[in-house]
Amino acid sequence: MGAYQDFYEQSLSHRDAFWTREAARIDWVKPFRQVCDFSNPPFAKWFVGGETNLCYNAVDRHLATRAEQNALTWISSEVELTRAFTYRDLFNEVNRFAAILKSLGVGKGDRVLIYMPMIPEAVFAMLATVRIGAIHSVVFGGFAAASLAARIDDAEPKVLITADAGSRGGKIIPLKPLTDESIALAKHPPKHVVIVNRGLDRDMKTLPGRDMDYLALCRRHEGEIVPCEWVESSHPSYILYTSGTTGKPKGVQRDTGGYAVALAASMPNIFDTKPGETYFCTSDIGWVVGHSYIIYAPLINGSTTIMYDGLPIRPDAGIWWKIVQDYKVSTMFSSPTAIRVLKKQDPAWLKKFDVSSLRYLFLAGEPLDQPTSDWIEKGLGVKVIDNYWQTESGWPILSAQPGIEATPRKLGSPSFASYGYKMKLKHEETGKPVGANEKGVLCIEAPLPPGCMSTIWRDDARFVKTYFSSFKDEQVYTTFDWATRDSDGYYFIMGRTDDVINVAGHRLGTREIEEAIQAHANIAEVAVVGVADALKGQVPMAFAVVKDASKVATPELQAAHEKEIMATVDKELGAIGRPARVHFVTLLPKTRSGKLLRRSIQALCEKRDPGDLTTIEDPAALEQVRAAVA
Ligand code: PRX
Repeated sequence: MGAYQDFYEQSLSHRDAFWTREAARIDWVKPFRQVCDFSNPPFAKWFVGGETNLCYNAVDRHLATRAEQNALTWISSEVELTRAFTYRDLFNEVNRFAAILKSLGVGKGDRVLIYMPMIPEAVFAMLATVRIGAIHSVVFGGFAAASLAARIDDAEPKVLITADAGSRGGKIIPLKPLTDESIALAKHPPKHVVIVNRGLDRDMKTLPGRDMDYLALCRRHEGEIVPCEWVESSHPSYILYTSGTTGKPKGVQRDTGGYAVALAASMPNIFDTKPGETYFCTSDIGWVVGHSYIIYAPLINGSTTIMYDGLPIRPDAGIWWKIVQDYKVSTMFSSPTAIRVLKKQDPAWLKKFDVSSLRYLFLAGEPLDQPTSDWIEKGLGVKVIDNYWQTESGWPILSAQPGIEATPRKLGSPSFASYGYKMKLKHEETGKPVGANEKGVLCIEAPLPPGCMSTIWRDDARFVKTYFSSFKDEQVYTTFDWATRDSDGYYFIMGRTDDVINVAGHRLGTREIEEAIQAHANIAEVAVVGVADALKGQVPMAFAVVKDASKVATPELQAAHEKEIMATVDKELGAIGRPARVHFVTLLPKTRSGKLLRRSIQALCEKRDPGDLTTIEDPAALEQVRAAVA
């Protein structure tokens, strides 16, 4: 492991020289004067004094060399359309959208909320926002009105961009009514709503004065060019909300220069993908993987990015491999859940298309099990690369880095630390380093490398408290993941240390789901845990104590009540948070000091030993859980 080891060590021992070299991968209008300012730990500022623009690096700078190359190819199996945009087309689209945003009063530092389906206009909107120095907050289209309202109030966007509807599995999913509902709930509503009307929802209502039709605005701003706003490297490019232990999602704030450099470096070093090659990431723009690897990284790299709107098995389970064949995809990025969905289909689909252009399939977001990994690697004949990271990091923390060296892989392991990440595995209580194969909390020594979150939006104190206060002995970043490291240096991720669960690769907080359930009038108390699931990795399972027990007196009443509670979650949070089951109990397992024994509940759901119960207040509560899941 010579080349990897050298590269990695250089990144830590000669940090400034290393990142100065990597920073040359992007264009700066003004060079930085300091590589890293860590004078106010744990806050890090990268490439201090440097001025650049994310959109310039993703679009403008390619015009000289690849204006006629496709930048973005959008394929929708939902509405059966394909649209391709060259770098020149993308430049024109983004400029027009930037002109629209400016005309609506959006300027440097203002927020733009993007609540959209997987359509090219979402990409134009994001790039246009950063072009003018504004800050985007993309909210996943699967979140419901109350979740959207909370994000509106935290970011206080001037403008909200949405569409009439999205489509999933052929079913139209209106977004505009949810937008209206969320604005009615919000204390700081946006002044304007821009609507991309796809003609999917014929009943869409608009509010004159506030709502603006995107096509009409396009006609008004046709051909307009908006110069890039040069911003200092640490100027925020976006906010992306993610779940944690509390019910209130955290606004992960990203800088500009550090993020651009981190993504630019990751394409050759980790993803081994060249400019001009085609990159296909199957995530959604509402998640961090979509931000980084559908949009910014491939575009900064001068690659062609594929944006796919649809399910992996519709019209059939060959759709992704057909895309690989037709567009000569060299690198793919997906999730273990998606592959498990495909694994349920006829394996012949893997052989039906010519996928010889494909070199790698990167998988991230949740643990990758060996059968799934084996199945897809053998079936396709491509290298599967498990990589581990978080919304907070923005790019892989642990991964094989085949652009540097083709190191041997171990199944079940996302290999080693990426350059720039100084990992520590600490004992949960003592903070001491754990030995080989011993379980510890995975931590990263500060300063976090370029590209990682700068802070929590408008809440520096919460940033320090949440991420840097787990251990008394030193101020390190904790990932909240358990991990081990074997004697060869390979890491293995063992799940979260906190109350975050991972459903089909989507990160959710059990508190968030509990709060959504509590919106139902008959709920006195509720506990939600994540339970292992063969397809989705984990599913939420709820145990509820009701106020009026007569409503759950018979199995029929219980079934009806369960449905009602699920519908409440759909409405409050979105269907992605809907519990797989709601069990009714009369008390919840708690310690004598009133803390929920989540790990014991989870263990019982997974038919494991509930562990140490010496502090339990009333053992009968656990018996109820056991009986409910039996
Ligand atoms: O628990 C880890 C799990 O997903 C969490 C981060 O989720 P999110 O913020 O949505 O970012 C996903 C970016 C890929 C982590 O704390 N996780 C992510 N990748 C892996 C993983 N667990 C096991 N193996 C992975 N490769």
